[in-house]
Order: sequence, then C-alpha cells, then structure tokens
Amino acid sequence: MTVAEIFETLDYGPAPEAAAIADAWLEARGRRTALFIANAWQAPSDGGYFDSINPATARPLAKIAQATTADVNNAVAAARAAQSAWAKIGGPARARTLYALARMVQKHARLFAVLETMDNGKPIRETRDIDVPLVARHFYHHAGWAQLIAREFPGHEPLGVVGQIIPWNFPLLMLAWKVAPALAAGNTVVLKPAEFTSLTAILFADLCLDAGLPPGVVNIVTGDGRTGEAIVAHPGIDKIAFTGSTEVGRLIRAATAGSGKALTLELGGKSPFVVFDDADLDGAVEGVVDAIWFNQGQVCCAGSRLLVQESIADTFIAKLKARMQTLRVGDPLDKSMDIGAIVAPVQLEKIETLVKAGTAAGATLWQPDWARPKDGYFYPPTLLTDVGPASTAVQEEIFGPVLVALPFRTPADAIALANNSRYGLAASVWTENINLALDIAPALKSGVVWINSTNLFDAAAGFGGYRESGFGREGGREGMYAYLKPTFLKGLKSYDRSAPALAAPVPAGVTSATTELDRTPKMYIGGKQTRPDSGYSRPVYAADGSLAGEVGDGNRKDVRDAVVAARQAEGWSKATAHNRAQVIYYIAENLEARATEFRDRIRAMTGASKRVATREVAASIDRLFTYGAWADKYDGRVHATPLRNVTVAMNEPLGVMGIVCPDDAPLLGLISLAVPPLAMGNRIVAVPSAKHPLAATDLYQVLDTSDVPGGSFNIVTGDADSLAAVLAAHDDVDAVWDFGSNDGGAAVERASAGNMKQTWVSDRRRRDWFDPEQAEGEAFLRHCTQVKNIWVPYGE
Ligand code: NAI
Repeated sequence: MTVAEIFETLDYGPAPEAAAIADAWLEARGRRTALFIANAWQAPSDGGYFDSINPATARPLAKIAQATTADVNNAVAAARAAQSAWAKIGGPARARTLYALARMVQKHARLFAVLETMDNGKPIRETRDIDVPLVARHFYHHAGWAQLIAREFPGHEPLGVVGQIIPWNFPLLMLAWKVAPALAAGNTVVLKPAEFTSLTAILFADLCLDAGLPPGVVNIVTGDGRTGEAIVAHPGIDKIAFTGSTEVGRLIRAATAGSGKALTLELGGKSPFVVFDDADLDGAVEGVVDAIWFNQGQVCCAGSRLLVQESIADTFIAKLKARMQTLRVGDPLDKSMDIGAIVAPVQLEKIETLVKAGTAAGATLWQPDWARPKDGYFYPPTLLTDVGPASTAVQEEIFGPVLVALPFRTPADAIALANNSRYGLAASVWTENINLALDIAPALKSGVVWINSTNLFDAAAGFGGYRESGFGREGGREGMYAYLKPTFLKGLKSYDRSAPALAAPVPAGVTSATTELDRTPKMYIGGKQTRPDSGYSRPVYAADGSLAGEVGDGNRKDVRDAVVAARQAEGWSKATAHNRAQVIYYIAENLEARATEFRDRIRAMTGASKRVATREVAASIDRLFTYGAWADKYDGRVHATPLRNVTVAMNEPLGVMGIVCPDDAPLLGLISLAVPPLAMGNRIVAVPSAKHPLAATDLYQVLDTSDVPGGSFNIVTGDADSLAAVLAAHDDVDAVWDFGSNDGGAAVERASAGNMKQTWVSDRRRRDWFDPEQAEGEAFLRHCTQVKNIWVPYGE
C-alpha cells in the first residue's frame, strides 16, 4: 500500500507485538508447567495435565499440571512450615522482598504482558498499559504497608496460611491483589490460578525464587475447581480469599461455615453506567467503551448496564453505535486492537446463549456490520436495547462485550434503576454537575463509584462489593485488615459446652403469676412493645433457680416484623452523625438515671455480686459515651491515587443488621454489640441473651425515653440460635453478628450465603466484655461499615 493510499483510507496497518520471547520461555519448560511448592518445581502427584489454549488462535500453548488433594496438602504443609519465620522476620524485612518483587515485575513487564495476552486473549495494550503496571504498583504499595505494619496495625498479627483462588479475567493482577497484602501482613500463601490462565502465575513463581523468598512463603498449585475445593476444605488453612463467580462464592461461603476460616469474596457484578443529560456525551461514549469493552467485558465491575436520561437517549445511542462501528476486534497481540478474544469456548457459548435469551425476550440487538475474525474465540461489541428492568439480560452478569441500555427520567429513577440489582460492585456517573454527581454517589449501593470515569483502580483505594458482589476489600488499609487478626484472640477461652439447655417455651402467663418480679416484658419492634406472634413465653430463671420472669418466645414472624421496621427506619441512616451521637448520649444519661434498678436486675439474673453488677452498668454507660463520641469521628479518607482525581473513601453503614448477644454480661454485651452499629447509622434487630434477657427488655423503656427513632433498635427475645438462623437467612438483612454463647455462628455463616450477607461470629471464643481491648473500639466500627470509594477526576 502506498502512503497516498494510506492517507486515503486512514486504515490501520498491522502492529504486531513479538511473541518470540514468551514462546522461548514456554519452550524452555517443554511447554509443560509444574507445581511450585516450597520453592521447588514438582510434578502433580497423579501425573495429570490439561491444555491451556491461546483463545486468539484456538491452539494449545502449554500443558498445565492438575494439582491433586495430596499436592494441596503438601503446599499447605510447606506454607505452614514457613509461616512463623516469615511473620517473625518483621515488616521491614518483608518490605524488602515485596519491593524486590515489584522491581522484578517491572523488569520483566513485557514478557508478563505478552504471556498474559497469549494466555487470556486480552489486547496487549491492556496487559502492557494497565494490568502489569497495576501489578507492580500493588507490590510497591504493599511493601509500604509491610514497612509500616507495626506502627499502623498495632495489636494485630497475621492470620497464618491463606488459600487464594483467582479467576481468569485478570490473572496476574488478581494474583498481585491477593499475594501482596497477604505477604505484607506476614501470612504465607497457597494460590490457585484459574485453569484457563495459569502461565503468568508460573512466571511469577520464577520471580519469587529470584527475589529470595524463603521456601513455602508462596506456593502455586494449578488446577481446576477440584483443586480449589481441596484448598477450601483444607483444615490447615486460616483464610480463603476468592475472586470469581457468585455461584462458586456461595459454595465457598457454605463450605467454610463454622470452620473459623476468615473469608473475603470478590464476586460478580452488573454495574450501572449512568449518563445524565448534561454529561459530556462524547466523553461518556469513550467511557462506555472503557466500561464494557475493556477486557472484552470480562470484568467483574464492567459497566454493563447503561442508564441514559430519556431526553438524550436517542442522540447518545446514535453516537455510541457510530463509535462501536469503529472498534477493532482481532489479534490481541496487535497493538492497535481494541478488543481481543474471549477466554474460552465455554465463555463464548455462555455469552451467545444469554444474548439469544435476551433477543428471544424482545430485546433489540445491534452489532457493527463488520465481520469478526474466524479463528479463535471472538465476539463483537454488542448493544441490547428495548429491555425491561427485570429481564434476564439486565439482571444477569453476561461477562462479555454486551451492553444493555435503558432510559430513565429523573435522578431518583436513575438511582432506583441502578440499585435494582442483586449485585453492588461499581457504578459510573456521568454529569457535568458536581452537585448532582456527589448527591447520587452515596445513594448508589456499590463499593466503587466513578464520576465521569470508569474502571480506575489503584492499590491505595480498596476495591470490593456490596450485596451479592461479595464482601471484604482488596487494596488500601481496609485490604490489610483482611489479612490480620487481633493478637488477643488467641488468648481467649472457648465457651463452656456443658451449659444446660434452655427451658422450653410455655403458654404466655402460665409462669408469671407465680413470680415475685412479675412483669411480662414484650418484644420491642418498630418503637412499640409487641407480643410474640407465637403466643408463647419463655421462663427466665434467676441465679438462685427461682423464676425471675418470662419473655416472649420470638419466632420467624417476629423477626420478619422487626426487619421490616428496621428497613423502614431509614431516617436513622440519613441522620447526621451529630444527631446519632446526641441520641446515644441520651440513652447513656437515661440508663444512668436507672442504674440501681439495672444493677439489681443483673444481680438477680446472673447472681453477680453488687460490685460486679454495679461495674457492668457503669461500663455499659461508659461504652455508650464511647460510641456517642465515635459517631462523628470514624471518618473516611481521601486517597492519594496516582491520577488527577480525589478518591474519597466513605465509611457507609451496612444497612439492617442482626445482632446476637452473649449470655456473659447481658447488659454490657448487648450495649457493646448494638451501639457501634447504631452509631454508624445501621438499624438493628438485637437478640439478647436467651438465658438473661431481662436487662434487654428493661432497656427498651430507656430507649423509649431517649429519642431513639422507632425501628432503628428492635429487640426480639427467644431462642438465640434459631432467631440468629432466621436473621441470617433473611434476604433483607445485610449483616449478622453472632456473639451468642452457643454454636449459632456456624449456622449463621451457612445461611448467610443466600444473599451473601456479611457475618461476624465469635467462633466459640469467649470475650471479656469488660475489657476495652476485646469489647470496644475500631474493630467494631469496621465490622459494621463498608468503604465506598468515590473517584472524582479534576482538571479541564
Ligand atoms: P469460577 O467462579 O468457576 O472460577 C473462579 C475460580 O474458582 C477458578 O480458579 C476456578 O478454578 C475456581 N473454582 C471453581 N469451582 C470451585 C469450587 N467449587 N471451589 C473452589 N474453587 C473453585 O468462574 P468461571 O467458571 O471461570 O466463570 C463463570 C462465570 O463466573 C463467568 O461467566 C462470570 O460470569 C463469572 N466470573 C466472575 C469473575 C469476577 O471477577 N467477578 C471472574 C471469573 C468469572
């Protein structure tokens, strides 16, 4: 072609990236990878291998070892053997290793980028300019946390051995997100890459050797879901960190329930991309390209639901189609390609099936008129319009280059549509009106909000979801907490298992007439005293065995009513922190006015001495003051991300929380668990100690006189474990804390998998509720909030 012709057509010429060095790396290994255990390359114990395919050519790249359960056991043993020495060398020594890894990633950046593109099918532009630089940045950032760990995380220690299971869409980046914080915190790692994309993890293992990592600190076991299952089930693992599908996330939640393993899950999404009529429309079109055609749309936080204000919808869609027509799909090693190959035939089929289901349900499909490449697994950029908000195409994660578009009228409509999803990972908001953007951002239920931008990531800004997009954050300070635990935990004793079972419920009124302390406390729902739906009561015995009274025997219906009341009490979450503090101080004041009465109640119930009971009431009042004080001080942050923007990290309440209280210190335990969530703006359904519930039922009289809005603090009495299980299974409950004295935590964790609610359970460890280190402070605030990062770019 002549230069004149090139000017005529303005067509792209080929700009291929050379694959020779990556091919040579594969050849040097005989195109067959091994398992990396204790710094040694090992063949899989049963000699099983599977093919890794280049999705752009459909040709095999290498044979990957399928790790067996025996191999996983070896890897865990190696990680265990290495862990205490790795923790003991201290943060600064670990920082050196992480810096070394960061530097080596940079040194081998191009090899990583090419290998990743060959293995995954994503364009070299992305692996070269986004994935690999972010990987290096992650190791540098976490080298920093390792350096500062003693100062920034006092009273914490590593969790131990961490099992990490990652997906195929950002193979090396997800490895970095998992490995860097785990190592910085002093954990050792058993990591399983996704079966479609194991190669860059193998190259990374090479770097671990070069960086001088002690044997066993990083172990890489390749394989499919069976290897993942063996990691999840392994009793020698202290935490599972998973990124992948919500289905597998749910299985992992259920499989780890009651095991004491810590868990973070980063799951799917169907993120909204909201364009208001005053947006820079050309900028927003480019935003859509980055939102849904980045990595072929195989991105958990892809902006896959376009919401466009009705007045500009036609114009915007026309601009978008014009832009789609110019996108280039093809060889991902070509530097001028926008869209590469889909990772595997199974994923391509899934996309095709979901798109067909969408059109069968009435959606209008639009694709550019150019033909997609024939070899390899390619899918063109696709737009579905005329879709209903509840349709499968709008609700299901397609995980491909498919955008669905819906119109909206008002900002309130936009928020309602955006939040009409079981997911909550990310959202993009496009408007030139900063007031509107910052009004909308907090109302969106997602872990990240990008204003006039999309798919921005940085190690300093924690990333993670709300709702069925999972829980926990990766990156930033909050991401470090996900790999640490308080040091005092290991000193705690377990609950006494020999405690007698609770008395059975009886018809209301049967016992109370015979008691001296006769009062028939009710439950407290929506700011009203309510009778139990069951019509049954439970006798409550005093320490001397006499009958101290009876309480309502709450059931599923009472929990449901309490959850409805809590859901409706939105005003509490919207109140200013100053207002919430005032109410909490007021509860403290009113409790103080009745201190003697509460002291006597505690004594009668638990048999505590006068001194201890007095101390419990005083500590409860003090704790109320503490959280009144915290209410307006547990601030967010502004992160220094390396882009022209401010990244505002806000601590948001989780929403409606179930709180299951211990038998020990029945008033102080309840206050210690109920008040931090309230201070942060959650509404709660508290289940007081089943054995000693009367302090809680007395407390509602205090709440009644303390301006606590109805529905923000509900109390349901009865069998704590069964009420906890109902709360954990309830889809409208966002989180459950179970510090009950029985084994309810396991059932809570299992049932929570339904809507992926966050849980925090005692793991049968008995805290001292009088000890502020164990029973108050930031850990409680952290567990009832989630960080939302709002990215606000600046500059013209
Ligand atoms: P997946 O969730 O099955 O795979 C993710 C990882 O989990 C892989 O390493 C896999 O080997 C492992 N795994 C699979 N079954 C397991 C089990 N029972 N126990 C432990 N580990 C297990 O995702 P898959 O099948 O690759 O993709 C299916 C769909 O998941 C996609 O179409 C997409 O919708 C979604 N997905 C979402 C991702 C995200 O980043 N949110 C990433 C990958 C997939």
